[in-house]
Formats: sequence, structure tokens, C-alpha cells
Amino acid sequence: MSMTELESANPLLDLTAEQLRAYAAAAMDRARRRSRGLTDAVDDSDLVRQHSRLMSPLVWDLAHIGSQEELWLVRDVGGRPPLRPDIDELYDAFKHARADRPALPLLGPAEARAYVAEVRGKALDVLDTAPMRGQGLTDHGFAFGMITQHEQQHAETMLATHQLRGGEPVLHAPPPPERRCAPLPEEVLVPAGEFLMGTSAEPWALDNERPAHVVDVGAFLLDTTPVTNAAYLEFVESGGYAERRWWSTVGWEHIQQHGITAPRFWRREATGWWRTRFGVTEPVPAHEPVAHVSYHEAAAYAAWAGKRLPTEPEWEKAARFDPATGRSRRFPWGDEDPGPEHANLGQRHLRPAPVGAYPRGSSPLGVHQLIGDVWEWTSSDFGGYPGFSAFPYREYSEVFFGAAHKVLRGGSFGTDAAAVRGTFRNWDYPIRRQIFAGFRCARDA
Ligand SMILES: [Fe+2]
Repeated sequence: MSMTELESANPLLDLTAEQLRAYAAAAMDRARRRSRGLTDAVDDSDLVRQHSRLMSPLVWDLAHIGSQEELWLVRDVGGRPPLRPDIDELYDAFKHARADRPALPLLGPAEARAYVAEVRGKALDVLDTAPMRGQGLTDHGFAFGMITQHEQQHAETMLATHQLRGGEPVLHAPPPPERRCAPLPEEVLVPAGEFLMGTSAEPWALDNERPAHVVDVGAFLLDTTPVTNAAYLEFVESGGYAERRWWSTVGWEHIQQHGITAPRFWRREATGWWRTRFGVTEPVPAHEPVAHVSYHEAAAYAAWAGKRLPTEPEWEKAARFDPATGRSRRFPWGDEDPGPEHANLGQRHLRPAPVGAYPRGSSPLGVHQLIGDVWEWTSSDFGGYPGFSAFPYREYSEVFFGAAHKVLRGGSFGTDAAAVRGTFRNWDYPIRRQIFAGFRCARDA
């Protein structure tokens, strides 16, 4: 089969320009409702406050979302005059570190809300007449997809800010589904062989997911589900954080220096282990995937369990490869966009779902919950695929390539369906714990 035949047909490619505009408008609207929900949930003093030096004030995220939308959709695609050229610099993420953002002369909450609404009106005008075919930014509405994903990524960042914020709970959502299948085997065998990694067919895929290329992966066993709190607790209780041999040198130094002895937001009480989630403190739920662990903690657990973290190609093969056809799917369950039956995404539930809650989202090989619930650390450094070409600008991904960042896959309960797919790549520092990240383990077959 040729490379194109190895990659699943993409439903977006069949849409007419008019249908694609409606798809983009709906995705943009969903993102905006999310941003509004997260910023309307707190009062103005909370919006301008920095809840953690790791994060921006929420009001910065809000205006930054508008600023990026203005730059790419209104000015670049639309060719319209700037609304607020005076504030470009304030909301350039590369000009000011998060810790320094509260000291900037930022737009206040009312101004920021008015600004993003005005930009959105103009962006929708541009969408009305934008060509949906062509090169680069306009092809299949790429710029609209990119800006939607950007806003949804900030919605997840804002959700992480909410998790770091003290005080009474202000976010509410129904619980996720319970386990809906028979108990699952611990591991799944992924047979040796080539598969198509990355994409050349997904119109809204970002530069770092491209191009599609064939990768040969040796046989390996992968955990059927992410590692649960109960399993992780065994590592904690058996003294895993005190035993040097499970840790890399850097990881060991880091936990010593910062006194880390359990996942972030966990606390040991006389009654057992408790965790705090968006202002609610509750017993650590046994069957939920563990979250708020760093790459170092994930790797140490894997060593303790006699396993290792999967590489990025291993993760993607388990998520996309269909042995019946030899093709790579868009998602573990097939090519259709994620629905509520497939995965815990989109902040519908403000927590990971217990393992076994999404049997309809499993991959052809029988791996569960690869999409949604928690981002999964892989052992791979972030880098460009063979033939990588930066688009639309180097700062999107390329400047982050290298050993400083580890790749995470699959999205979390805080990620919207627009901002994750089988090929989607996230990256972060291996010490990060405030993100909604867990992991699963692998071992050689
Ligand atoms: Fe951004």
C-alpha cells in the first residue's frame, strides 16, 4: 500500500466549503463558551490575581486568546486593519514569562471581555467569505482550526489554574461514567512491524504531527489502561519515593530538593490518603487513573513495577494501528470525531473516569482510554518528524524541540475534542505536575 492508502480517509476532506465554515464556527463557539465558563466562574479580583507562579492570571489568558485570534484570523487571513496593535506585545507569550505577567499593564476583566467579543465578531465576518481551499493558512480553514485549538489549549491551562487556586469550589460537573466492561487484562501485546505514524491527511493537524511516515516498532506489551491511583499507592506505601534505585539521577535530585513524596494535591491523613480537586477534598479514588505526577515519578513507578514508559511511536501504534487493514486510524475507535461514548474529554466531567469506563473507545488491539482522562507521559523527547517543516511559525513547536521536553499523548478530561487526536503531540518539562498528566507502562515482549 502507498503512504496515502495507509492513512485513514479524513471526514473533513469531504465537507463543502459551506459545511466546513459551519464546522469551524461551531468549534470556535464551543471554545468560547469554555473560556467564558472558566472566567465567569470567579470574580474580578480572582481573575487578575496570580494563583501560582507557574500560571498567568486568568485575565491574561483571556485577552491572549483574543490577541492570537486577531493576529491570525482578522489581520492575516482577513487582511483587516489591527484593532489593538498597542497590546500585541503584552500578550506575546514569548516576551513575558508567566511569573512576570501580573505586573504588566494588562486589560482589566471588562476590557478583556469586550476585546475578545469584538475580535470574535470580526473573525466570524472573515470566516463568512474566507476561501476554504488553497495553500497554507486557508486550506480547509486551517487557521480557524489552529485558533480553535489554541483557545481550547488555553481553556485547559485555565482549568489547571483553577486546580491551583485556593478557596471554595466554583466549578461543577457531573461525575464520569463507572466501569462499563468486564475486568480487563493487565496488558495487551502489540505485534512487531511497521505502521504509519503522524499525518499528512488531517487538515487541522499542527506542524509537529506532520508528515506521515513509516516507523518500524518491535513487539511490546502495553498496559491496557492508565496506571490507577490504587496501583500507584502501592508504590507510595512501599517506600518508592525513598528508594534511590527506582529514580534517575535528575529525578532523585528533584524529589529530594522539593520534598516530593506523593502525587501533587494528595495528602496523608490518619484516615488514609485524600486529594483535593477543584476545591473539593475527597478520599483518593482507587480506580481512577493517577494524575498530577511528573515524568520522573512516572518513570520511577515503571521501574519499580519492572516495566518502562512507552516510547512515542509505541503509544501511537497502540492507539492507531488496525491490524485488520494495516491502516492508521484517526482515533483508537475509528475515524469519527470523539463523542461522549468514546472518551472523557471536554471538561464534561472534572476528573478522570475509572478504568473500564469507555469500552467503546478502545483500540483494535484492545487498549483502553488512550484518549481523554489523563495525558500520558512517554519516554520520548520532543522532536520533529523526518521531513518536518515549521508552520506557520517556528515558535509554534520547533523552538521546543530537544531533550528538555518530554512528549505527552492522548489528552485529558480537560482537553477538548478539537485539541486532541491519535497524532496529537503535547510536550512539557519532565518536572511538571500541575498538568492533568498520568501514564501507563510498557515492556518488551
Ligand atoms: Fe497561547
